[in-house]
Amino acid sequence: MSKVKDYNQYLDRVNRAISAIDYPQQPEGLYQPIAYTMALGGKRLRPVLTLMACEAMGGDADQALDAAIGIELFHNFTLLHDDVMDRADVRRGKPTVHRRWNDNVAILSGDAMLTMATQHIERVDDRHLPAAMRLFNRTAMEIYEGQQWDMDFERRHDVTQDEYIEMIRLKTSVLLGCACQMGAIIADAPEADRQAIYDMGMYLGLAFQLQDDMLDVWGDPATFGKEVGGDIMNNKKTFLLINAQRLAEGDDALELRHWINDPYAMRDQKFPAVRAIYERLGLRELSQQAIDRYNNQALDALQRVGMDAEPRQAFADLITRLTTRQK
Ligand code: IPE
Ligand code: IPE
Ligand code: MG
Ligand code: MG
Ligand code: MG
Repeated sequence: MSKVKDYNQYLDRVNRAISAIDYPQQPEGLYQPIAYTMALGGKRLRPVLTLMACEAMGGDADQALDAAIGIELFHNFTLLHDDVMDRADVRRGKPTVHRRWNDNVAILSGDAMLTMATQHIERVDDRHLPAAMRLFNRTAMEIYEGQQWDMDFERRHDVTQDEYIEMIRLKTSVLLGCACQMGAIIADAPEADRQAIYDMGMYLGLAFQLQDDMLDVWGDPATFGKEVGGDIMNNKKTFLLINAQRLAEGDDALELRHWINDPYAMRDQKFPAVRAIYERLGLRELSQQAIDRYNNQALDALQRVGMDAEPRQAFADLITRLTTRQK
């Protein structure tokens, strides 16, 4: 009988392991920003998925802990660089590393976090290490590709919905898939189950990024922990903007084009104006429908994973709970 625990119990385990990380004292400029970032928390979704998947598939969560922490370190590394790229000032309710220190610090501390992540994955037992490393490295490359598409798309105005989905699959979803599959590898799950749980994480990731894009427009900064409106200011080709470009007519179309083409637009004008266009076009609802579709695909994939009824229900509950997340 598997004895899968609830999110908070895995979260405690993850947080305990993260607080036990011993950073060197010197050079301060390298390690302090890492300690700062890791201490700020966040949802810890990816390492929780790794531990949960491992236990759900009959493995020992303790054996997946290093890999789980490695994945969380990697995620936090991508955030340091992402906040430079997106010119974002606030994360988890605190100044971003490049704002509190500077861009060079965010770049180099990020680099160090990537290596620390690899060093954690290295501790996976010898039997599972090759598969774990291959998965981790492949995922990392895909994320960089996704991040580059994301940046390229800021300057393009003909991005299609399919291109957007592929971009978020790469920048966000593959890491959720990787987190799940990492647990499955360490649990010695059969190949078909490893693939199915990867797919579950991947679809969950698509819904997760669509939700993130919605929260960037309608979220409450106090809860979300990030400033809102950044995607609109950066002309990020989100599901919302792509569909606004496709559906806007008349004055809405003119106004949208004006805001996209004005490099000097002020946030307190452009953000509410574009948000109002999204609302007039019903894009909040359209986006929610897409989220529901991907969540259902995640639930379908979950049905294909060989596991007991109890952990399956725990995953189903988690997927459902994430649909209404506010942070
Ligand atoms: C932020 O990830 C980056 C995205 C993929 C949207 P999270 O929303 O998981 O951020 P934290 O780790 O909880 O802060
Ligand atoms: C994040 O996408 C993807 C990665 C960090 C790889 P976003 O740029 O939307 O994430 P947030 O909103 O800054 O957390
Ligand atoms: Mg980004
Ligand atoms: Mg960002
Ligand atoms: Mg975002």
